[in-house]
Amino acid sequence: MKDASANQEQKRAVAVRAAALVVGGQTVGLGTGSTAAFFIEDLGRRVREERLSLKCVVTSFSSSVLARDHGLSVFPLDDFDALDISVDGADEIDSSMCLIKGGGAAHTREKLVHAMSKRFVVIADASKRVSKLGEKFPVPVECIPPAVRFVERKLRELGGKPSVRFAKGGKDGPIVTDNGNLIIDVLLDMNSPEKMEREINSIPGVLDNGIFAITKPSEAFIAE
Ligand code: A5P
Repeated sequence: MKDASANQEQKRAVAVRAAALVVGGQTVGLGTGSTAAFFIEDLGRRVREERLSLKCVVTSFSSSVLARDHGLSVFPLDDFDALDISVDGADEIDSSMCLIKGGGAAHTREKLVHAMSKRFVVIADASKRVSKLGEKFPVPVECIPPAVRFVERKLRELGGKPSVRFAKGGKDGPIVTDNGNLIIDVLLDMNSPEKMEREINSIPGVLDNGIFAITKPSEAFIAE
């Protein structure tokens, strides 16, 4: 599982680079996680210091709280059918810029926001770089609660090792996403991320999975 407290300085450095890309008047998608949090913080600083006017949308409840704390104006996603730019972290990134995301259980809304964006910028510390997707991190699969046993079986049939994600404190039982669903983390040997993304999403009961091979970033800032 991810370590949100790792590599803080690298995360901050790439987040500040990405925040510098945003210009006044833009619609901006805000990612979720510890790297995206640095982006939100620095964008808030620019809005205050440069009096930028931005319309932001979020990918999770936690990003919404953080964005408002930093003075960003947050709008409902369905106010827009496209966005200028979105910025987010990743759990893994391969040499083709395919990603695994969803360590924070927010990948469904993240994929939607990034698919809507003309420019999707991924920001990551060096530990996120992998030679093969799935090497270190399981693929999060969001599914509706009644489908959980069936989806686990189908993921095993794809050669995966699935397990339902449980809360580590503050709640007994499984993690429940912002959409009211469950997360199954599946360890997979993946030769074609795009094919696997499609195959998992074709299982009835699955909302979306954390492979970003079809919706890919247009740019990546990865710390050395
Ligand atoms: C949230 O669900 C995720 O997709 C995060 O973007 C991802 O887990 C990266 O998080 P960190 O920036 O905390 O490593």
